[in-house]
Amino acid sequence: MEYRLADHHIIPLAYTGSKAKIAPLLARLRPWEFLEYREPFVGSGAMFNQIRRFAPCRSYWINDIDRRVVAFHRVLRDDADAFINRLLDIHADHGGGTQELFDLWMGWRNSSDLMDLAISAFLRGLIVRGSEMKCFGFANSRVITGKAITHSKIIRLWGFAELLQGVKITDMDYREVMAAYGQDAFIFADPPYEVAGEECYDHGQFDLGEFTTAIDHCRHSCLWTLNCSATTMAAFSRHNVIVHSMHHSANGHAAADEIIGANYTTPLFETHARDIGTLLHRISNRHNEAA
Ligand SMILES: C[S@@+](CC[C@H](N)C(=O)[O-])C[C@H]1O[C@@H](n2cnc3c(N)ncnc32)[C@H](O)[C@@H]1O
Repeated sequence: MEYRLADHHIIPLAYTGSKAKIAPLLARLRPWEFLEYREPFVGSGAMFNQIRRFAPCRSYWINDIDRRVVAFHRVLRDDADAFINRLLDIHADHGGGTQELFDLWMGWRNSSDLMDLAISAFLRGLIVRGSEMKCFGFANSRVITGKAITHSKIIRLWGFAELLQGVKITDMDYREVMAAYGQDAFIFADPPYEVAGEECYDHGQFDLGEFTTAIDHCRHSCLWTLNCSATTMAAFSRHNVIVHSMHHSANGHAAADEIIGANYTTPLFETHARDIGTLLHRISNRHNEAA
């Protein structure tokens, strides 16, 4: 089925830590030229969708260590008909969501079937309270306010399925994706933040030191985001760094700053950076390897 996504349709699934709000501004910071786009922590794919729609290149590689997230993107790419029909059946039976559907979700999220996993990823951000690690049960309030499952959220998946055609989708550790050879690759890396850590995702506390090393050794143009702290600022003092004030959904919507860094620059980097926040450090060389 053909579906025309509106510009404000940024992500196909509600996701903790999604960059849906800021992705259009982040996409402006992309290098001027690149042949390949890679996203090692893709989650809901906010930035991937922006790049795919508005700054197309030759090839795309998205990755996440979470097998439900990967199942979601793979099933949407390869079996959108069956996926969307099954979601429409669920919507017909359960409307915006029911306790019974939540109980089914508990089983699907640990299923060995790819379609069940994909369904569980889609439903998680809509009918479940809390994070992947701290699940507080059925989100009835979202159903009451109409923010849970809707027909339009399901039908819209047609548009996102189209964007996934021909895209490589893997479930590796991010370091393999960042280190892999490529010609003129652009990487957007949005790892779990220190404040979120294992509270939000399934894979243990994120190691900032290893991430810093991966960025330092990366031969590609990298744009990345992290929570703002003395440690993260010090770790990337040789890069372009922008401080952005945000509302962090992962810690109860408290205001918090994040930093956005790049190991490359573009002629309009500063101009676009000002639309996001304050540019702290500047680099003039394309990669940090000469620094
Ligand atoms: C902040 S979220 C990314 C959100 C994404 N940018 C979006 O717009 O939805 C971080 C993601 O990193 C993934 N992740 C955590 N550790 C990872 C690892 N070692 N390798 C790859 N992905 C990992 C989590 O599963 C999660 O989806």
